[in-house]
Amino acid sequence: MGLTKTIWATPAEYLRANEPASPVMFFAPAVLQDSARRFIADFPGLVTYAVKSNPDEAVVENLAAAGVRGFDVASLAEIRLVRRLAPDASLHYNNPVRTRAEIAQAVELGVRSFSVDAASELAKLLALVPAGTEIAVRFKLPVNGAAYNFGAKFGATVELATTLLERVAAAGLVASLTFHPGTQCTDPAAWEAYISAAAGIAAAAGVRIARLNVGGGFPSHRRAGEPPALAPIFAAIDRATTRAFGADARPALLCEPGRALVAESMALAARVRALRDGEHVFLNDGIYGALAELALIGTIDRVTVLSPEGRRRRGPAVERIVFGPTCDSMDRLPGTLALPADLAEEDYVLFHGLGAYSTATCTRFNGFGELAVATALALAA
Ligand SMILES: Cc1ncc(COP(=O)(O)O)c(C=O)c1O
Repeated sequence: MGLTKTIWATPAEYLRANEPASPVMFFAPAVLQDSARRFIADFPGLVTYAVKSNPDEAVVENLAAAGVRGFDVASLAEIRLVRRLAPDASLHYNNPVRTRAEIAQAVELGVRSFSVDAASELAKLLALVPAGTEIAVRFKLPVNGAAYNFGAKFGATVELATTLLERVAAAGLVASLTFHPGTQCTDPAAWEAYISAAAGIAAAAGVRIARLNVGGGFPSHRRAGEPPALAPIFAAIDRATTRAFGADARPALLCEPGRALVAESMALAARVRALRDGEHVFLNDGIYGALAELALIGTIDRVTVLSPEGRRRRGPAVERIVFGPTCDSMDRLPGTLALPADLAEEDYVLFHGLGAYSTATCTRFNGFGELAVATALALAA
């Protein structure tokens, strides 16, 4: 991804001047810094950033500038990226499966916090990490409220988590617990259930945990209407922690949001390649590009449509089937998308709230997927 040097006032200004044939991701650093500052002010603990959701250098730099001091990393490449851009930040290597070589390298690069959800993976860590290292046992519960089930891949059962926590404490390392309620989770009750279970695991293991990492999973604004509120989730987390552990024995809280920090800071302009026989819309981006996640967790309908001259289309909404550019039948956005009746070939459809899991997972399938990034002061069309 190349970052243009010019800062544009709005996406419309850029689109008018450049008439790009390929998709363009607009990035508003001010929006990102504002999200981060609000999260840091309102969350009752340490806010770290899940790099996987958007590892763009400008994103990491702006989050560090806004006061984010910790990063959840999943690979050596992410560790090196953060070390280079935010050398003093703490790194939490929370991909629960790592090779021995990766663990050794991470230790060398100063990582002192790891998560674990299996006895075999804990054995690798115990052999390689120095004294003073934090090991957070990741557990899972069968709770709903998120866009998809994260427990299918990671997380120990409550029973296994209890055993793992005992072993971490017995090894003299810093024992913590962690969970992820699933991404785009809108229900505070999911966090409450996890926090209550965490206290149960700690009690059963006879371990006073140093920290409780309540994951990512915080929702971003994907559907038209009011954005999901984070304040009730933060309040529920705070209350549940005191209730479950007691006011005097509360572990320090930590969170690692990706989506909720970065989503709102980017908007994608995809161009209408064809309005086939006035019916189906073919865009120059789709599920193999920056819109990949829509196929996994549902569509984003916060769209604005602009003519090639940058004028807002305001016709009555018509539900349309929308396809991406590749020659692949799967390349279709889920359901239908309400687009203005006066939509025309070569218009731009601006998808808002697209900063998470978009630039990072865009492929070059079928020769498409070239994605420019432009910096804008504001993202409203
Ligand atoms: C361990 C871990 N932490 C945090 C996140 C970020 O989740 P979200 O973007 O839903 O906040 C993920 C996402 O996959 C994850 O695997």
